Amino acid sequence: MAGPAKKPIGVFDSGYGGLTVLKEIVKQLPEYDYLYLGDNARAPYGSRSFETVYEYTLECVQQLFSMGCELVILACNTASAKALRNIQQNDLPGIAPDKRVLGVILPTTEVVGKYSKTRHVGVLGTSGTVTSNSYPIEIKKLYPDITVHQEACPMWVPLVENNEIETEGADYFIHKNLQSLLSKDASIDTIILGCTHYPLLINKIKKHLPATITLLSQGEIVAESLLDYLHRHPEMEKQCSKGGMIKFFTTDSTANFDKAATLFFGKEVKSEHLSLSSSPSEK
Ligand code: DGL
Repeated sequence: MAGPAKKPIGVFDSGYGGLTVLKEIVKQLPEYDYLYLGDNARAPYGSRSFETVYEYTLECVQQLFSMGCELVILACNTASAKALRNIQQNDLPGIAPDKRVLGVILPTTEVVGKYSKTRHVGVLGTSGTVTSNSYPIEIKKLYPDITVHQEACPMWVPLVENNEIETEGADYFIHKNLQSLLSKDASIDTIILGCTHYPLLINKIKKHLPATITLLSQGEIVAESLLDYLHRHPEMEKQCSKGGMIKFFTTDSTANFDKAATLFFGKEVKSEHLSLSSSPSEK
């Protein structure tokens, strides 16, 4: 006889970056079931328009809902910046009033004040995240005394998605963007890695930064915030099934996904292909 239907927690990203968040979530909350969806066929999202990121993200969220998820984490800053508010305020009440979608920007801004002593903070992100101004706006609300400077790093996600992390090209672009951020404000003592792909570049980023600067990557922060959310929302916590299952889905080639994802997730990943209405089918 079939057991009760599984209601995994959905974790979504445009590609591999969200795996850095899922890895920490699973470390802190191993008992739950998870579905990871990477929209690799349409990544990167970072340079896409507001409308496109919103349309793609909503489609992926609905897909995760249709697979049983009651709670979906947008483990992607670009999607959190450009689509989350719209989905929460305009879509959920109509399509799934009891389901929830959470992002990664708020949890990160909530903790930044604990780290910065100079009260000068830098944010690195995709062009989409930076132009949305989500970080400066949200940080100002919580910490009006903090000055924020941002730098868009449009080449960093393609470097990760194309496995070019260990190349001289990666050093060139990372050095260039970090110099540009620090030239805007020499007092920056804390830098938010405002893109879930960037932890994959962390060793290179550290190499090009003074050791006195604190780097905030989002995996642990988002995992702690999810733990806290589930404590504060027992009605949602009860819904999430607990079986320690993790399933991976990609909208692109599973062979490519598995190779890269295993590296990023730190454990063997065997994904399944998922076709979305507007993404290309697997070749
Ligand atoms: N990982 C994503 C983020 O956190 C987006 C990367 C992309 O698709 O451009 O912003």
